[in-house]
Amino acid sequence: MDTHHINIRYSNLAESDCCLSCGKAINFAKPQAGEVCVDLGSGRGTDVIRMAQSVGENGKAIGVDVSEGMLKKAEKNAQKLGVSNVHFIQSELEHIVLDDSSIDLLISNCTINHATDKQQVWNEIHRILKKGGRFVVSDIYSLEEVPEKYRNDAQAVAECWAGAITKDEYLNQLTAAGFTNISILEESTPYPKGSIEVSSFTIAATKKKGACSCSS
Ligand SMILES: C[S@@+](CC[C@H](N)C(=O)[O-])C[C@H]1O[C@@H](n2cnc3c(N)ncnc32)[C@H](O)[C@@H]1O
Repeated sequence: MDTHHINIRYSNLAESDCCLSCGKAINFAKPQAGEVCVDLGSGRGTDVIRMAQSVGENGKAIGVDVSEGMLKKAEKNAQKLGVSNVHFIQSELEHIVLDDSSIDLLISNCTINHATDKQQVWNEIHRILKKGGRFVVSDIYSLEEVPEKYRNDAQAVAECWAGAITKDEYLNQLTAAGFTNISILEESTPYPKGSIEVSSFTIAATKKKGACSCSS
């Protein structure tokens, strides 16, 4: 499945007031002065700007998104607030155009569920984090397998539910990518979304000091 529907949907939502989040990754992330931070699926750039302000002029915050509309809106928002240590780049989550071992802190909010190859996204997260670097990710998981007819419906995936996988599958992908010390920081009770039941959660882990940054 390509990202065409996602680009269209989110470019249309860029100027709206609608809430795009499903958790509070940013509130747990604690960016430190001088750090290099990234937000995967940065939307209107709100969390990137907050991280840029926290890390100060010796650090930077990078927003990664596939939607031109969102990237434009995010750049405008940063300019309006006079925040200059931000960069917004257009990239798919499965092929993040950032160097190996270059990121101290990675956050993402309600985005990874959209990716067709989520294992590849987690491999990429592991690749770009520095050794000892950390992620805090909020996302949704489904309470049961999403029926095939919805899983392949690009519109339903773009609406943040049909791409969801179960919690076990989710956590197994993190382990397969190389993360071992995973914590669940918050978790909702199940709620209906589209045609399924989902929960949202915020998870965190650190890349081991001795880990390899090879792309798999
Ligand atoms: C639900 S919004 C969340 C935006 C922001 N994180 C927030 O919480 O407000 C998902 C964002 O991820 C982007 N996105 C979705 N799938 C993507 C993909 N495969 N690669 C890159 N960006 C993607 C969308 O364009 C959109 O801006």
